[in-house]
Amino acid sequence: MVRLAGRVAEAGGASGLIQAFKDQLREQTLASNRSKPIGSGAYGVVYESNIPGNIMKQHHWGADAAGGADLVNEANLQALASELGIAPKIAAIETFPGGVGNRVEMEDIRRNFEPHKGRKIAPDQPGRYPTGMDAVRVNQQLGQLALKGIDLGDRHSGNVVYNKMTGRPMQLDFGIATKVEGEMQVDALTRATTDGFTAAGLGDIAEIFHDTVYDLLAGGQVAEAMDVAKQGFSRLQKIRRVNSPVDQLVDKVKKESDLFDVISPY
Ligand SMILES: Nc1ncnc2c1ncn2[C@@H]1O[C@H](COP(=O)(O)OP(=O)(O)OP(=O)(O)O)[C@@H](O)[C@H]1O
Ligand SMILES: [Mg+2]
Repeated sequence: MVRLAGRVAEAGGASGLIQAFKDQLREQTLASNRSKPIGSGAYGVVYESNIPGNIMKQHHWGADAAGGADLVNEANLQALASELGIAPKIAAIETFPGGVGNRVEMEDIRRNFEPHKGRKIAPDQPGRYPTGMDAVRVNQQLGQLALKGIDLGDRHSGNVVYNKMTGRPMQLDFGIATKVEGEMQVDALTRATTDGFTAAGLGDIAEIFHDTVYDLLAGGQVAEAMDVAKQGFSRLQKIRRVNSPVDQLVDKVKKESDLFDVISPY
């Protein structure tokens, strides 16, 4: 009795003891769920949360230090993207001493979103990447992120899912993402726009646009480069449809484009 009373006091009274018991139960559920992961990669494991409708992403031991893949930084950048509606909402970040077992809880998007297979860039390459209209829409979202100062990389097919009804992409895995400004921000926006135009079958526009921006950057005209990059991106945003087969675009932008008029003064 005396011992129990002591423990109750240590745990902060009866309510503290109940909380400690709940925490213990939660850890047991999470450990069990972790043994049946939804996904598992080089850096971590994704499994169901104890809260239905949420998932946990947890890094393997040592991954944060070794790979420079800081889970907290990752979650913060994803939270910004989720405000644009293009990444799962973050529910919580839990950190532990030494970073061991750090985990992020977020919305489970599997009900409404599904992966698309994508295509290999080269036959001998292992990864698959979004193609056609999927790639256009992914790059539209990467451009939106660039405008918010986020450069999101590693967009292989395992890191993007698509709304089952509308096909709208949702970005997973902010493990390779950085905050950008100045030249780096222009660069991020230009890459997204160039890749988007190329995916839409507008390779010639992509090239002229790309070269114009980088000529300006090379000349130190960062503000002007950003201006052209934004104009180009606003044209990319207007592309809504790509005919199949993939590379034959309903070339709305090309016909109507005044991008060349925009670029020519520079
Ligand atoms: N919010 C989510 N809802 C449902 N499933 C998810 C969610 N986030 C990730 N997943 C699943 O877990 C897998 C791995 O997630 P993520 O890519 O974020 O982790 P990772 O450890 O960085 O993986 P990798 O090293 O393979 O890139 C995804 O491919 C997806 O299948
Ligand atoms: Mg991944």
